Amino acid sequence: MDLSSKSVLVVGAGIMGAGIAQVAAQSMQVSGQRVFLHDAREGAAAEAKAQLTTILQGLVAKGKLTTQACEGALARIVPISSLAGVVDAGGEGPSLGLVVEAIVEKLDVKRSLFRELEGLVTEDCVLATNTSSISVTAIANGLKRPERLVGMHFFNPVPLMKLVEVVSGLRTDVAVADAIFELSKRWGKVPVHAKSTPGFIVNRIARPYYAEMLALLQEQAAVPEVLDACLKTVGFRMGPCELMDLIGHDTNFAVTNSVYEANFYDKRYVPSLVQRELVDGGLLGRKSGRGFYRYPEGVPALPAVVVEPLATSAAARAASDDRHGGVVVQGVHIVPTDGRTARELARDLGTSAVVVQDRVVGLGAASAGGAGRAPVLAFATAPGLSGEQRAVAVAHLLSRGVEPHEVADTPGLVVARTVAMLINEAADAVHQGVCTPEGADAAMKLGVNYPAGPFEWLKAWGANGVVALLDRLDAHYRGERYRVSPWLRARVG
Ligand code: NAI
Repeated sequence: MDLSSKSVLVVGAGIMGAGIAQVAAQSMQVSGQRVFLHDAREGAAAEAKAQLTTILQGLVAKGKLTTQACEGALARIVPISSLAGVVDAGGEGPSLGLVVEAIVEKLDVKRSLFRELEGLVTEDCVLATNTSSISVTAIANGLKRPERLVGMHFFNPVPLMKLVEVVSGLRTDVAVADAIFELSKRWGKVPVHAKSTPGFIVNRIARPYYAEMLALLQEQAAVPEVLDACLKTVGFRMGPCELMDLIGHDTNFAVTNSVYEANFYDKRYVPSLVQRELVDGGLLGRKSGRGFYRYPEGVPALPAVVVEPLATSAAARAASDDRHGGVVVQGVHIVPTDGRTARELARDLGTSAVVVQDRVVGLGAASAGGAGRAPVLAFATAPGLSGEQRAVAVAHLLSRGVEPHEVADTPGLVVARTVAMLINEAADAVHQGVCTPEGADAAMKLGVNYPAGPFEWLKAWGANGVVALLDRLDAHYRGERYRVSPWLRARVG
């Protein structure tokens, strides 16, 4: 099944639909191919085309697109005011091979649209949904030919984000998913196959990035600035707190809730009271002027804290400390976290001269550059550590090229705990057949710009270390949240 020479219909001309129409139109090469664009709101499709005209002409002005390519793409985009219009126009060029739906995120509305479409398009036309949270299996229920419905999940902004999750429901035909996979490549995207499960790949695996920070905030382990700086130090472009502010706490909370509910209230995904308070109080993030941070009107909302990623040389020094299980400087044990708290380590080592530091091994350290704050590394101290011993540890960490920040004595500190949980979630996704390890890595790097994929972290860190840390978190907090994925435990040697 080859869709690359067919015409396409995009339904829903909002942010996503317009982007999808742009990408499709710019990729088409066969004469007469069209991207029909329809929206239930009168005039919306024409407005979207007008906006796309401005965008594409802007690219021409910047020398990023030829005039010919711009005109060609725009000529292919045809706003239609009724769905039946696509049938009328169909005779003029290549037949309609695909409908991509990007309308409101409501199951009943999507279902009735696809039922209507079934009565309009030919038997072999593929039906794709851009849903980000609804089951593809559920949307297909009630269709005459549910096997032709597939998820084609783009990321915002569509022209820039490379990832497409190709989501198969229970009844999706393999040939249909493969055809969308190949077409996505033609459209310049990197497709990844996913099974229709709550959150698909990216929205599921990313949950701990937010949840672990919210948990640390709830137990007052550190402030948002420090948490964000720690994660940015190892290469994440935005810290979790500023990212939640950008996404909007209402949206982020809704996604967390939907994953939680869809998993039959598995405590692993339990939402956070900290975030609910923000939502209830209208502190939604950038859009409301205040979330974890303040965004005064008229001031450009730059990332809240600019932090240098760890320079390769400093990362190598810190990683060497990690590998050797830490160092002893003037009698002070400076130990990378293995999930034990400083208090527990002091007990095990028989001395109160213990400092636990966060981990950086294999965590996508990048070259430093620009004028930001120094890379930040979290540490915690054992009860009974003297002021002098603390100063020794701080001086040592400073010599490693990082700015040390003391946080509460919590298991796994900040980065290690977060990354271990991201690995664990990815492992469970693979265990449940949602995606392959390679698919998960590609999805997280391209869908949410992670500095490395979860399985790349796992390779660098080793299953033994990750599982030991998770088991200690599990023992510390008790409950389902930190239970180790069977897939991961099977890799412990
Ligand atoms: P939007 O609100 O910008 O656009 C939706 C458009 O669909 C509106 O123009 C609306 O008039 C139209 N519409 C609503 N019901 C319709 C119907 N029955 N028939 C035809 N048109 C209809 O929404 P957005 O953000 O573009 O999202 C669209 C879909 O894409 C949703 O399913 C959403 O979950 C999904 N999505 C959104 C992402 C995002 O970051 N905004 C990312 C990935 C997926």
